Amino acid sequence: MTYRRIVLAARPDAAPGPEHFRLETAPLPMPGEGQFLARTIWLSLDPYMRGRMSAAKSYAKPVEIGETMQGGCVADVIASRHPGFAVGDVVLAPMGWASHGLSDGVGVVKLDPSIAPLSTALGVLGMPGLTAWVGLNDIAAAHPGETIVVSAATGAVGSLVGQLAKRKGMKVIGLAGGAEKCAYAMAELGYDICLDHRAENLTALIADAAPQGIDIYFENVAGKSLEATLPNLKTHARIALCGMIAWYSGAENPPPAPLIWGAILRQRLSVRGFIIFDHYDRLPDFLAEVAPLVQSGAITYRESIAEGLENAPAAFLSLLRGGNFGKQLVRVGPDPA
Ligand SMILES: NC(=O)c1ccc[n+]([C@@H]2O[C@H](COP(=O)([O-])OP(=O)(O)OC[C@H]3O[C@@H](n4cnc5c(N)ncnc54)[C@H](OP(=O)(O)O)[C@@H]3O)[C@@H](O)[C@H]2O)c1
Repeated sequence: MTYRRIVLAARPDAAPGPEHFRLETAPLPMPGEGQFLARTIWLSLDPYMRGRMSAAKSYAKPVEIGETMQGGCVADVIASRHPGFAVGDVVLAPMGWASHGLSDGVGVVKLDPSIAPLSTALGVLGMPGLTAWVGLNDIAAAHPGETIVVSAATGAVGSLVGQLAKRKGMKVIGLAGGAEKCAYAMAELGYDICLDHRAENLTALIADAAPQGIDIYFENVAGKSLEATLPNLKTHARIALCGMIAWYSGAENPPPAPLIWGAILRQRLSVRGFIIFDHYDRLPDFLAEVAPLVQSGAITYRESIAEGLENAPAAFLSLLRGGNFGKQLVRVGPDPA
């Protein structure tokens, strides 16, 4: 009886590649007293995992070389010596990039498969969804009638930010990679307009889309999207700084600090970075509002699914280059629901 896991093989200095991961097989551990063993169904792939591959100081500890890559999973319990978890329970658990894992129940939540498809616990009704909802409501303090720009507009976080902002009665402008994603953003997610972030004249295109200026920038990307949005922000505009994926592996020709600091000063911008771990007290309010909207189909979502644990590294590398279209998942084992 063995299980499979993907470990960090080496730390990347710049963009990671397949050589930074290694697939291993190991004996399947049996649960000790107070533990359960679970089988992974869905593995979530998220941009933050690039940070965990680096030894640089951050808000969370890095993955050590030879350790299993960290990650959130939906899994089912297959053996238990834990009083709170029984065989057959489906859980949201930080099992990492592995086919099976032991848990003592810390950080584990039982899921009700009747609420929504299990994979949504890692996407629209999970960490990325909560990030979108908290970022829009609590961090950006968005109001009806305001104009918002959302980068990575069709991704796990951005796709919900856009839909929630539209439901609030805001003017919603998306930035996304390519015509297909932009068309989807407008046709399915309700963006008023979505612009390709690779367009040469992006600053001017944003100005045309928002002649009165922008009240809120929901920042998922940095890079060119930031450079093009900054000059279009109104005086006293707010930036909800959620992520900066364009710079996670280092920046090519980053804008000079005086450009960014100068804009913040002259336009009197409020910039608020946030890490969702600090906001899990908001989870019940988020689920109370958004879960019924997902159940009724009023909020839509899209998933990119890689098949098999062995394909997790390639799917992750693709995510970092915009190869995903919606929430990136790996189907590690059959979904009983
Ligand atoms: N603060 C928090 O607690 C928190 C929590 C969750 C996520 N985040 C952050 O939120 C952001 C979005 O996360 P997600 O899970 O929703 O990922 P995602 O949007 O589903 O996937 C990442 C997307 O980023 C875009 N991208 C990648 N490289 C880019 C580049 N160089 N320039 C422009 N766009 C690029 C790509 O979209 P396009 O094809 O459209 O370019 C890609 O599809 C990330 O920065 C992530 O780190 C933060």
